[in-house]
Amino acid sequence: MLAKASVFIATSLDGYISRLDGSIDWLNEANTAVPTGEDCGYQKFLNSVDVVVMGRNTFEQVQTFDTWPYEGKQVVVLSSRPLTLPDSLANKVTISSETPTTLTERLTKAGARRLYVDGGITIQRFLAEGLVDDITITLIPVILGQGRPLFGRVTQDIPLFHTGTRTFEFGFIQLSYRVAGRAE
Ligand SMILES: NC(=O)c1ccc[n+]([C@@H]2O[C@H](COP(=O)([O-])OP(=O)(O)OC[C@H]3O[C@@H](n4cnc5c(N)ncnc54)[C@H](OP(=O)(O)O)[C@@H]3O)[C@@H](O)[C@H]2O)c1
Repeated sequence: MLAKASVFIATSLDGYISRLDGSIDWLNEANTAVPTGEDCGYQKFLNSVDVVVMGRNTFEQVQTFDTWPYEGKQVVVLSSRPLTLPDSLANKVTISSETPTTLTERLTKAGARRLYVDGGITIQRFLAEGLVDDITITLIPVILGQGRPLFGRVTQDIPLFHTGTRTFEFGFIQLSYRVAGRAE
């Protein structure tokens, strides 16, 4: 069985994952209202995945963080360009230009059971190849008006089963879905 592919991401109420320039200042600002110790299920989710797969744009953003957030996880960055990794990440990150299907098959053969797919374009490509199993979206109470969208065009509807809703007192709402037709 192919490794599952999971999405765990925050969006504005109008469905953007970042501003047009890739910045997530609005998300960082919203996170200041989150009580210490609350992570909206992120660490539990991260613990459940074997491999983090992200697009180059997300990787560029992550590299601006103070600390590498995926310590101990295999990370694959997707890009069609030859990327140069800093020495500090040389043993932690691999670069690939494989299609979602080819990559998922390779990682499955290597023992992966669940992939964390991150970045809007990357998620859209995994969805287009019918590979996404579950989606958790944390809605941040802000309307950005424009930005980089989580979802894009699809060639056919992608029906979902709603599997849960969490409401946080600081205003976040977390919606969980399983993609119909994918095994539970
Ligand atoms: N709100 C949140 O929770 C959240 C989470 C994650 C990211 N973000 C934000 O979202 C933004 C990034 O999202 P994004 O939609 O711009 O893009 P993305 O998915 O992070 O990156 C897209 C890029 O990945 C590469 N790529 C993806 N699939 C590929 C494949 N199969 N083969 C080769 N290359 C592939 C391409 O890079 P090349 O152009 O190099 O070929 C493509 O341009 C960042 O600003 C990040 O901060 C927000």
